[in-house]
Amino acid sequence: MTGTNLEDCSSCRACDLASTRQAVVISRGNPKANLMLIGEAPGAQEDAQGAPFVGRSGRALDQLLRDVDLDPEHDLYICNAIKCRPPNNRRPKKAELAACRFWLDLQLAAVNPKVIVLTGATAVEAILGIKGGMTQLRGQWQIWNERAVMPIFHPSYLLRNPSKAAGAPLDLTRQDLDAVRRRLCER
Ligand code: URA
Repeated sequence: MTGTNLEDCSSCRACDLASTRQAVVISRGNPKANLMLIGEAPGAQEDAQGAPFVGRSGRALDQLLRDVDLDPEHDLYICNAIKCRPPNNRRPKKAELAACRFWLDLQLAAVNPKVIVLTGATAVEAILGIKGGMTQLRGQWQIWNERAVMPIFHPSYLLRNPSKAAGAPLDLTRQDLDAVRRRLCER
């Protein structure tokens, strides 16, 4: 960690990923939204463009959001558990998640979302501390720090499992995101 404001994140050298990254990938979307989506880590496209979920996974994610009437630019704030791309897109190491947690906590404090969506096992483990199969966890509301949290399949998993059949991962994810949209309308 090299500072105490989110703006300082761009110059962070708290872990070894600083030496291989092109860009620190902080966020996209609306910092005033009631909904925050947390993914795993930037991939090649995100590293090149400096924004999260802008590659194939991001396009799939944006389409799913639109399918349930959520606007990716206005209705949510999108970020990742870690801000720098791991080489060859390997899963983030525990030490990298720990080193980057400071920035994620600053984002959570700044956005103060009512609802959080966690995409994939890494984000679920980072926030909820639950290690487990996404098949069991997805679609099950959790409460974390008084916020409603919805685990969903990671879009890259959905790209590998593109069946459009009812009850397939894509359909289940649409249902999960629709439950998120309805929750945002409550209160
Ligand atoms: N996968 C993620 O988890 N995050 C991104 O930003 C891109 C792909």
